[in-house]
Amino acid sequence: MTVDLGFVHRWVPGEAGSELPTLLLLHGTGGNESDLLSLGPMLLPGANVLSPRGNVSENGAPRYFRRLAEGVFDIEDLIARTHELADFVGAAARQYGFDAANVIAVGYSNGANIASSMMLLRPGAFAGGILLRPMVPLEPEAAVDLTGTPVYLGAGRMDPIVPVDNVSRLAELLEGYGASVTLTWQPAGHNLTREDVVSAKAWLSNVIGSE
Ligand code: MLT
Repeated sequence: MTVDLGFVHRWVPGEAGSELPTLLLLHGTGGNESDLLSLGPMLLPGANVLSPRGNVSENGAPRYFRRLAEGVFDIEDLIARTHELADFVGAAARQYGFDAANVIAVGYSNGANIASSMMLLRPGAFAGGILLRPMVPLEPEAAVDLTGTPVYLGAGRMDPIVPVDNVSRLAELLEGYGASVTLTWQPAGHNLTREDVVSAKAWLSNVIGSE
């Protein structure tokens, strides 16, 4: 049976009976639902994995929301797409029988940006997040409560797409709303490195171990 729920996606169930969080994998511009599938078991073996493809096409490159230029987002579209994705996660939880209150977002680049937008516009959507090469998606109009939500930010010191100040601003924004932010800097550009995975995995084991 093929279920769509509004997003082309992959669902990979984890170990039966496991109480591990479900990982929501969100790819970068030009990626798809298969891109990050191998990252799920690397970060958290045995966890369910849900991996939707972005519904927006930028000249054929899938994304989660529209942009007007590199790093300049179409905020109206971002807000609408953020709610659409959050609703998809809720529908998928009902369809596949996972706990919607125990989802960790794992996003890279454009996927990290929609994940943090979801944290800011739908607080409670995630039990935590691993945001790799993220930037500030938007500044919310109303304060949100992210008290204690663990968030890992994996930035690249030589990232040509995300200025260093922008990542620091994102950390400040999330911390300002109470999230427990771990900001790490890799000696890297926009592409992910092995160290990103090793570091995010260690952070996640620590977060889950201390729950
Ligand atoms: C974005 O558009 O979300 C960011 O610029 C990252 C990218 O996808 O290039």
